[in-house]
Amino acid sequence: MTKVLIATEKPFAAAAVDGIKKIFAEAGFETVLLEKYTDPNDLIKAVADVDAMIIRSDKATRQVIEAGKNLKIIVRAGAGFDNIDLAAATEKGIVAMNTPGQNSNAVAELALGMMAFMARANYKGGSGTELKGKKLGLQAYGYVGKAVATIAKGFGMDVYAFDPFIPKEAITKDGVKVVNSVEELYSTCQYVSLHIPANDKTKKSINYALLSKMPKNATVINTARKEIINEDDLKKMFTERQDFKYVSDVAPECHADLLQFENRYYSTPKKQGAETSEANVNAGLAAANQIVKFIKNGDKTFQVNK
Ligand code: 3PG
Repeated sequence: MTKVLIATEKPFAAAAVDGIKKIFAEAGFETVLLEKYTDPNDLIKAVADVDAMIIRSDKATRQVIEAGKNLKIIVRAGAGFDNIDLAAATEKGIVAMNTPGQNSNAVAELALGMMAFMARANYKGGSGTELKGKKLGLQAYGYVGKAVATIAKGFGMDVYAFDPFIPKEAITKDGVKVVNSVEELYSTCQYVSLHIPANDKTKKSINYALLSKMPKNATVINTARKEIINEDDLKKMFTERQDFKYVSDVAPECHADLLQFENRYYSTPKKQGAETSEANVNAGLAAANQIVKFIKNGDKTFQVNK
């Protein structure tokens, strides 16, 4: 019998787990649940005899992948797959997938919520500013960037985007202005919301050269990954510019150093962009359906290690 492991250090909402189990039961698969584990060895043990695995930000390291003797597919229920050792998966002939777009609205709503929180003096009662009429730059226009654009336009923001991988017309048709370079995005927009993945090209790429270009009362919103920020440069911006704000759902390593910049810095204690019941159901059920289609029909749509 095909055995599928749901390994979630940060568990899905109950409705998502129930839905996933139902899909696997109907397919004749057995579901094994490993939630809230703190020791990576628990994952290494749990993966030993399963055919497929669903994860969130859980780390599918080489050690985990090699421990999965029967493992054929790993699906990351979510967008970013920087937590999977793709080279190790490919070497072992294991298919890795993500579920693009399934949790993007949850992340986008949080990004706008964070913008409002910073603009309104951290909800402490002081006078703030409005988002209406302000320029918002989206660094990348994937599912999350697009969803942020839709909501931001509802706030009356003037939305710009830079994404070299998306045709210009696909962005402008949404009423979003396209800039020609990432530098132009930063020099144009008071708000910049980050939606790029963490990879060898993007790590530490948000640096002083970009941040220092931002207009007065600059605010950067990071609901993407902490690794994309150059943290020394981030600290430099805080000390050099009294008007600079940074709000994050992916706490930087230098979190403790930034706490002194009250009202200009905020980070959630734990990443919660995709922490909604809806996002868990969307991404979890998509992951389960992708596994069933792959095991039964060899369907490799959404494979990321090609
Ligand atoms: C993603 O890449 O999909 C988001 O960062 C959400 O990650 P999570 O499932 O670990 O909350």
